[in-house]
Amino acid sequence: MRMKGLSLETIPSIHVPFRFFNTAPWMGVLAALVLLLEADSVFSSSWNPGLLAMTHLLTLGFISMVMLGAMFQIVPVLSGEMIPGGVLVATSVHILLCAGILSLVVGFYWQAYWLFSWAIPLLLSAFVVFLLPLASLLRRRIGGGDSIYSIRFAVLALLISIGLGLVRAANYAGLLQWAGLPNTISLHLGWGLGGWVLLLVMGVSYQVIPMFHVTPNYSTHMAKVLPTAVFSSMLLLTFVANPVIKGVAVLVLCLAATTYGIISIRLLRRRKRKVPDITARFWHMGLLSLIVAASLVMIIYFSDHLFPSIRWREKFYIGTGIILIFGFAVSVIMGMLQKIVPFLSYLHLQRSCMNNFDLLKTLPHMGEFVPPGFPRWQFRLHLAALLLLLVATVTGQLVELCGLLLIVDFSWLGLTLARASRLYLSTAKRVALHNQS
Ligand code: HEM
Repeated sequence: MRMKGLSLETIPSIHVPFRFFNTAPWMGVLAALVLLLEADSVFSSSWNPGLLAMTHLLTLGFISMVMLGAMFQIVPVLSGEMIPGGVLVATSVHILLCAGILSLVVGFYWQAYWLFSWAIPLLLSAFVVFLLPLASLLRRRIGGGDSIYSIRFAVLALLISIGLGLVRAANYAGLLQWAGLPNTISLHLGWGLGGWVLLLVMGVSYQVIPMFHVTPNYSTHMAKVLPTAVFSSMLLLTFVANPVIKGVAVLVLCLAATTYGIISIRLLRRRKRKVPDITARFWHMGLLSLIVAASLVMIIYFSDHLFPSIRWREKFYIGTGIILIFGFAVSVIMGMLQKIVPFLSYLHLQRSCMNNFDLLKTLPHMGEFVPPGFPRWQFRLHLAALLLLLVATVTGQLVELCGLLLIVDFSWLGLTLARASRLYLSTAKRVALHNQS
């Protein structure tokens, strides 16, 4: 494992990232439950309340939940500086985020938009309490090279996406009437998926792919050019009305995403460690989904008028969203979690045995925290769920089966992470008792 450039002195307590990592899969199970309960209508339109609820359980409840936990972990280790406020900030962000997401999602699901007047302050406080201490760190000259470079852009994209989302929610709740509102929805999901999610996966992958899969490093040149291209094209799409410039911006955004996907797949193919590694398959599935989604976004943008009917256009939109959210973002996060959780568990236990090498030998090794059978089945479940989701979107059939499969997919991940956390806790207790005696 390549640990160069990492400062392990500033590693936060394991409870900080683990509370986010262990919450996310159950938000995924809730999304699957919505799919099961709303099977008749959920894919009828991209504005279906059930679909909006499901989308935010996945984008906020799963993706952003894990990514915030990962930021609490990776920024101190990359930069060599702790995020001010440490455990107190993480605990407040976690509680506010969970309460905010649930009130937003229940508001969508039951079209009880008065609940947004709760969701808005809760989500706003969660992201402010998270972003302020982080921004105080990121705005300074800190370590972490290419990863931190892309993470800075990702945090700005999150700020813009959340801002637009809160404005939309305020409109739903009747708290805000604003003429310019109609354009904000595509910008909201553009900054959310094309900005926050893509830029953060880029930033984190620059570290975790070479580190966990022992591949060559990303070229520093490409590692800087790609996030700059993504962020600049999103800025052009937001502030420029000229259709030609907008067209070029969409092309640059999709080409940057495709280039990143191809470069990463080629790096994974040059892994030094040739033992089969299931988690590398999650990256392959995610990156291939990103490349496909980038092509679909170009089709939507440049040939929207060619769709035979509104019905087919809606299916195409929803299908593209599923490939980008479930195929790309959820897949790479599932792959990373099954590497990061055993790694952090072992690292923290190892550090608690520094004065007692005999004890060190009794620690469970990384493969015991998440035994290979678990990711193997996770991959099969997740791939089957993605394919069935696309079949259900196009045909409108098998939606209930899809909901059941997604419940198994996310529960399996939730139980895998809970099992690893339990093994960590019982071993940490044993070590602590031993160190006291
Ligand atoms: C504070 C957090 C957020 C709030 C309050 C929020 C609010 C909203 C609202 C009100 C809509 C519906 C817009 C409409 O019908 O006009 C929406 C749609 C959407 N949001 Fe968010 N959002 C948030 C965060 C996010 C994030 C972080 C992402 C992505 C990473 C995201 C992705 C989407 C997508 C993809 C849609 C369109 C869904 C569809 O067409 O079915 N949202 N959001």
